[in-house]
Amino acid sequence: MKSKSTKILLDIYKEFLNYFWLRPESAIVQSFRAIELRKTVYQRISKKNKFLDVSCGDGVFTFIALGGKLGTSFDSYKSIKNKQRSAKFDAYDHIDKNFKIKILKKPSYKIDTGTDWKLNLLKKSKHLKLFKKLVLHNNEKRFPLNDNHFDFVYSNSAYWVKNIKQHLIDMKRVAKKNGYLYLHVKFKDTYLATLIKNQTKISFGPKFEKIIDGGRYETWKGLKTKKEFDKILDGISGLKVISYKPLYGDIIMLIWDIGFRPLFKPLFEMSKSLNKTKYIKVKTEWIKILYDMSENFISNYKPKKKGAMEYTILLKKVY
Ligand SMILES: C[S@@+](CC[C@H](N)C(=O)[O-])C[C@H]1O[C@@H](n2cnc3c(N)ncnc32)[C@H](O)[C@@H]1O
Repeated sequence: MKSKSTKILLDIYKEFLNYFWLRPESAIVQSFRAIELRKTVYQRISKKNKFLDVSCGDGVFTFIALGGKLGTSFDSYKSIKNKQRSAKFDAYDHIDKNFKIKILKKPSYKIDTGTDWKLNLLKKSKHLKLFKKLVLHNNEKRFPLNDNHFDFVYSNSAYWVKNIKQHLIDMKRVAKKNGYLYLHVKFKDTYLATLIKNQTKISFGPKFEKIIDGGRYETWKGLKTKKEFDKILDGISGLKVISYKPLYGDIIMLIWDIGFRPLFKPLFEMSKSLNKTKYIKVKTEWIKILYDMSENFISNYKPKKKGAMEYTILLKKVY
């Protein structure tokens, strides 16, 4: 018998598989982030409270985490520019004129404000009708938002910001006293340790490493070692650590490190050449195989304290 929380996790996983079917490794990591975000939100804030989603991207992550469901005809690849991946080029930063989202179920919470520095991602977010307000903002600068305003400030992208300390201070500034700052963070050392080349001690060579990196490391401008990050947090007054836990690592990282990332461009091209009926047929079969293969693993996965690559950190602003 599966517990209620495992059933919710599997439901969320199905939603992410539908959304990221060509990149199932993303579905796995987003599911573990989402279940933690959902539990934390449900436990700590009410529907009337003000939620700030920092670096919300296209909004779908938070939409699914809070119980939203999207149609099978919709996914992450409906409006992208398929050029070669690099740190400087983001295929998802694009929106077609006729972009549409099929919403099957609305999330149980509304989000007061979402921010991101990519206008096309904010335009996609708008279609979800989840955010009351969307703000175009570069996190290297101060938020154009009032002090002491939000009950819950969430970010899973703080390590993308070069001046991460200032960014954390700014997130704290806009949080209310007794409000929360909730982070999902990667660290340089925990990330490097979990890479295939470091886990297996097999050298696949620089070409392999360049292909599987796909520009990701270069985009994480504020990535710190765990020790450096903890020191930064310690140096910010008025934040109390409520919980600080490993989220995922070990085998999930091995899966994520390669995943379908290297083959994404041709896979996407192939999928685009299908007519609508065939697309749904192939996608449905594809997702069923992936789900059946991984259901047991997803249901039972627990991060090891030592092997974790990403952490979940809940902080309370006490002053
Ligand atoms: C990995 S995505 C996460 C998006 C979303 N939170 C999610 O989970 O799907 C990282 C996001 O951070 C945004 N981002 C990166 N650096 C930024 C910056 N300096 N200012 C604002 N947004 C930034 C990107 O545009 C992107 O949407």
